[in-house]
Amino acid sequence: MAKIVNSWNEWSRLRRVIVGRADGTMIQAPEPAVVRDFPEDGFPAGTYGPMPQDMVDAANEQMENFAAILESHGVVVDRPEVRDWSEEIATPDWKQASQFGVMPPRDVLLTVGPEILEATMSQRARWFEYLAYRPLLQAYFREDPDFRWESAPKPRLTDASYHAGPEFWHEFESLDEEEAIARFTMNRRWNLTEEEPLFDAADVGRFGKDLFVYHSSVTNAAGISWLTRHFPDHRVHVARFRESHPIHLDATFVPLRPGLALSNRKRVPLEEDMVKLFEINDWEIVPCAEPALDEPPPLCYCSVWLSMNTLLLDEKTIFVEEQEKAQQQQLYDLGFEVIPVPFWAVGPFGGGLHCATADVYREGDMEDYFPKQIPGY
Ligand code: ARG
Repeated sequence: MAKIVNSWNEWSRLRRVIVGRADGTMIQAPEPAVVRDFPEDGFPAGTYGPMPQDMVDAANEQMENFAAILESHGVVVDRPEVRDWSEEIATPDWKQASQFGVMPPRDVLLTVGPEILEATMSQRARWFEYLAYRPLLQAYFREDPDFRWESAPKPRLTDASYHAGPEFWHEFESLDEEEAIARFTMNRRWNLTEEEPLFDAADVGRFGKDLFVYHSSVTNAAGISWLTRHFPDHRVHVARFRESHPIHLDATFVPLRPGLALSNRKRVPLEEDMVKLFEINDWEIVPCAEPALDEPPPLCYCSVWLSMNTLLLDEKTIFVEEQEKAQQQQLYDLGFEVIPVPFWAVGPFGGGLHCATADVYREGDMEDYFPKQIPGY
């Protein structure tokens, strides 16, 4: 029987990975956790529907191409199932008029060593996304006797999980960035309450024995507490950054190799102990390069900082978006072999090269890259 699942960090040699799909992606219907609002592109707040087919095709083409590049570097690529995300869904507690899609597996699946953990997620539209990965997870379970298949408690996501309904986002959008930072980021409070543990897998940065979890608009303190208890052999640290709408760590703070991390040049870390922890363990934190775009493309809810959303093949080789020349040059200067990958058409489907993938197998074991710790952090 084979060993299929193993990945402790973001940089060891990649051997197997899941790459998502653009098929069926929806501009999701409004719900307390999120309201999409693209008035210029035909989807003003309150409306929803499938992403335009030409955009789906363009994104899928780039994803196929990326999958082929990965395979040419000796990486086995698995893909989720195609499903209909336009269906209305319901639990006994609520109904949701549409789902989202399955482009970013990173958001749902957290691989830690021999374990893949299905995240709770915090949007109703994303409640059933795990189903698209089940055929893969079932196969890994059959073939790999050491695979630990875990699922976090399914959240109820009743109105009690949110401070306000969809109107929260209306108010949020009316604030400028500084006001939003003062009101929400500095108070560690967006629309999620602490009713139940909630987290997205993409809020977790894996650095061997140390996990950094972004306290964000989709991960609450209870979610971080649940992860801390779930991974007793790890040290789980809270990460926070100065940005108005934090969601997912991987366009904000990412490791590049042991001793080197890339930090968003605009989003300053707010946890002093986190910065200190890196310092006392001789890690260097470099600010990322300027992104190539001034504005995200149409129908994109991610920011231009997908420029730093990269995937490491190993400690020396990194996949970077083809047009992000400044980011490529910086990584080259830091000693990496840079493999450019066209991926801008994928952005509107939920992210970049890191979001679009979920680790299944990277070589190596759990190691301690932060032997000096800070008590209480
Ligand atoms: N928060 C990021 C930004 O817009 C997007 C990160 C997307 N990451 C992901 N795993 N889906 O700057």
